[in-house]
Amino acid sequence: MRSHSVRLNCGTTIPVLGFGTYSYENDRRTTEQAVHAALKMGYRHFDTAKIYGSEEAVGNALGEAMESGFIGREDIFVTSKLWGSDHHDPVSALKQTLMKLGMEYVDMYLVHWPVKLKPWACSAVPNEQDFDELDLEGTWAGMEMCLQLGLCKAIGVSNFSSTKIRQLLDFASIPPAVNQVEMHPMWRQRKLRQICGENRIHVSAYSPLGAPGSFWGSTDVVNNPIIRSIALKHRATPAQVALRWGLSKGTSAIVKSFNLERMKENMGALDLRLDENDMLAIERMVERKIMRGDFLVNQTTSPYKSIQDLWDDEI
Ligand SMILES: NC(=O)c1ccc[n+]([C@@H]2O[C@H](COP(=O)([O-])OP(=O)(O)OC[C@H]3O[C@@H](n4cnc5c(N)ncnc54)[C@H](OP(=O)(O)O)[C@@H]3O)[C@@H](O)[C@H]2O)c1
Repeated sequence: MRSHSVRLNCGTTIPVLGFGTYSYENDRRTTEQAVHAALKMGYRHFDTAKIYGSEEAVGNALGEAMESGFIGREDIFVTSKLWGSDHHDPVSALKQTLMKLGMEYVDMYLVHWPVKLKPWACSAVPNEQDFDELDLEGTWAGMEMCLQLGLCKAIGVSNFSSTKIRQLLDFASIPPAVNQVEMHPMWRQRKLRQICGENRIHVSAYSPLGAPGSFWGSTDVVNNPIIRSIALKHRATPAQVALRWGLSKGTSAIVKSFNLERMKENMGALDLRLDENDMLAIERMVERKIMRGDFLVNQTTSPYKSIQDLWDDEI
């Protein structure tokens, strides 16, 4: 059993600190070097997706580390995601992902968004003509097939509201093991965590620092005076406090840094302990969702005519 891991409803374990690999620059060599460094620091969970364009770099670096004997396949946990343009055929999409990764299976395969796109629509920001009619039942049947074929060890979803989780559970033969969503001290996902907890679905937090420095992100979390004062009190950093808060709630966190110092710093969250007062102070912070998904909303072809539709009023 890996340390700092939690067991999922399907029996497999997930390391609680994941290494994000979405980078706007998307430079293959930089990503490979970051993954090598992350492995040396002890990261064992790597998060990628078809739409990030990082699958090959992640697979290359992990493959080299396995070839050199530094790690075995069973020591690492790899997550990838089904893009909207592949909802019509998850099995073929996952086979392509596995080719890019150079692997026989991924540990976790997630439906990236509850959005179906036309098969040719491969842009991260779809055009109006790219949307297709959502058929979650059909998509999920394909995900279950991926699992049955042994192409992945677990299946799950991402960016699903609690309403959509309930809808999915109504027809799923195999329940999702994970819901990967935005979560940090300023977007705490209280309701979603409760519904997921009741249904033994693990919540994994993306943008756990609020994605500072990225084009859609915000520095509000790491610069927040409450987070900074808790950090000062524990001789920790704001990022460590934000990460530890999520881990204390029983979620895992997918954090991205390709900077050696910050990668080490983020790992330090595993050693931090927050007290009850810290947790209460964070509970009182103003909430604001950063990844709102505006690019998936339109008045004509998207199943979501507003942001509220996309998140079922949970925003
Ligand atoms: N399922 C989804 O829809 C979804 C959506 C978004 C993200 N994700 C996944 O989650 C991962 C993480 O999310 P994210 O990248 O949006 O947000 P994040 O991890 O909260 O923030 C990443 C940003 O914070 C900076 N950073 C990292 N450590 C820091 C520290 N200790 N102090 C200050 N700044 C720090 C990074 O820059 P440096 O690299 O320069 O350190 C980067 O600009 C992604 O890479 C991706 O794998 C999934």
